[in-house]
Amino acid sequence: MAEARLILEGRGLCLHRQSRAIVDRVDIRIDAGGISGLVGANGAGKTSLVSLLAGLIAPDSGVRRITGAGCVEGAGEARIGLMMQKPVIMRRSVYGNCDYVLKALGVEKAVRRARIADGLALVRLDQRARDDARLLSAGEQQRLALAQMLIAEPAVLLCDEATSSLDPPSRRLIEKIVADKAATGLPVLWVTHNLAQLKRFGGRGGGRVFFMHQGRLAPPQDIEAFFTAPASKEARAFLAYERI
Ligand SMILES: Nc1ncnc2c1ncn2[C@@H]1O[C@H](COP(=O)(O)OP(=O)(O)O)[C@@H](O)[C@H]1O
Ligand SMILES: [Mg+2]
Repeated sequence: MAEARLILEGRGLCLHRQSRAIVDRVDIRIDAGGISGLVGANGAGKTSLVSLLAGLIAPDSGVRRITGAGCVEGAGEARIGLMMQKPVIMRRSVYGNCDYVLKALGVEKAVRRARIADGLALVRLDQRARDDARLLSAGEQQRLALAQMLIAEPAVLLCDEATSSLDPPSRRLIEKIVADKAATGLPVLWVTHNLAQLKRFGGRGGGRVFFMHQGRLAPPQDIEAFFTAPASKEARAFLAYERI
């Protein structure tokens, strides 16, 4: 099946909390494949921006648009894959958590079964399919969240600190699976405050770096340029601080 290239963009996005702009006139467009990084210190507004892009919250002003060849009005929502730092795990089996996602999308039973089997094998949870998902370790739960995201066959991935609290084996497995997806042309926005991870993992396939500071987003830079010649003084300070 030919994939419709999905374009996710925000124009002039603003979000205020307690009379402060935590997302401040942000223009962002995610259309190219590869792993783009969204970096910035804790509190910069990254999660708020991702929540706006994912449609979890509405902006106070500005617009968010999902367009792309063959993407009819409203159908784009289901094509956005989202992983947060803490996955939402339901009181069901590992399989049941996956099935819930595909049922909600109206996928028929035989297709659900096949996709879930593939998805759980990919994240190496196929032997745990019948287990209560709440008994999984943090790393396993995040791998389940990755499977839930991928079996929905998203056209763009938004990963917000998806591996920030995991042990190295789970982190590496998730990085590898996401990198493989990005290599197939799937656009990935990888949100992190961890520059070592960004360096190791980001920028592949033409992905760029978006730097966020106090709600403002700097124009994107190639990953090499970001590390050697960051465009803003705030980004320079962030890099210098992280090197200490
Ligand atoms: N619901 C909320 N009410 C008040 N302040 C909030 C709320 N959500 C986020 N903030 C504040 O907005 C800022 C940006 O938060 P966040 O988007 O989580 O940043 P990041 O993900 O970059 O760490 C922080 O100062 C945070 O405390
Ligand atoms: Mg955050």
